[in-house]
Amino acid sequence: MGDSKFLNRETAATAAAEELSQENRGDGIVVRDLQRQLANAFVLFGNYKHYHWQVFGPLFRDLHELFDQLASEVLATIDPLAERVRMIGPDPVADPIEWTNIASVSVATPHTSLRYMIEEADQNALIVIREMRMAACSAEEHRDPGTVDLFARFVQVHEKHEWWLRDMLRRGDGLVT
Ligand SMILES: [Fe+2]
Repeated sequence: MGDSKFLNRETAATAAAEELSQENRGDGIVVRDLQRQLANAFVLFGNYKHYHWQVFGPLFRDLHELFDQLASEVLATIDPLAERVRMIGPDPVADPIEWTNIASVSVATPHTSLRYMIEEADQNALIVIREMRMAACSAEEHRDPGTVDLFARFVQVHEKHEWWLRDMLRRGDGLVT
């Protein structure tokens, strides 16, 4: 009797999981959005570390530390994005070699000026912000509040980064021009 109760519970759990997953199944837009932002987070983490190592000049300390902070904050989004995909079902990214193909942000250009680094970082942040806002709306349409919450929180990380990067690009004192 204990066995049959266990089986009933297992059957019920499977049915519930299927019901919850039907709106955001593995080949659906919610999973594709999560996978794209996971790939973007990996590329941005690499970019911010690259800038962290490449900065030079009178603003070295500030920019060196700033880019390390941006890298850490993006890194903290990677595991929740990947595990959200896993909760829904599929592999977060079936083939890691595909990450740069899935990502919509560009990999950092080597050997550039400080201003170009910040402009490149700002452009990439804007891409992620635009996509995460759309992805949150899409997850809402697919009745997935967990994914809506994830994108709603993480878009704020990139919005803050974009604000900082944008304000550093304001011309005035000539330090990063
Ligand atoms: Fe470092």
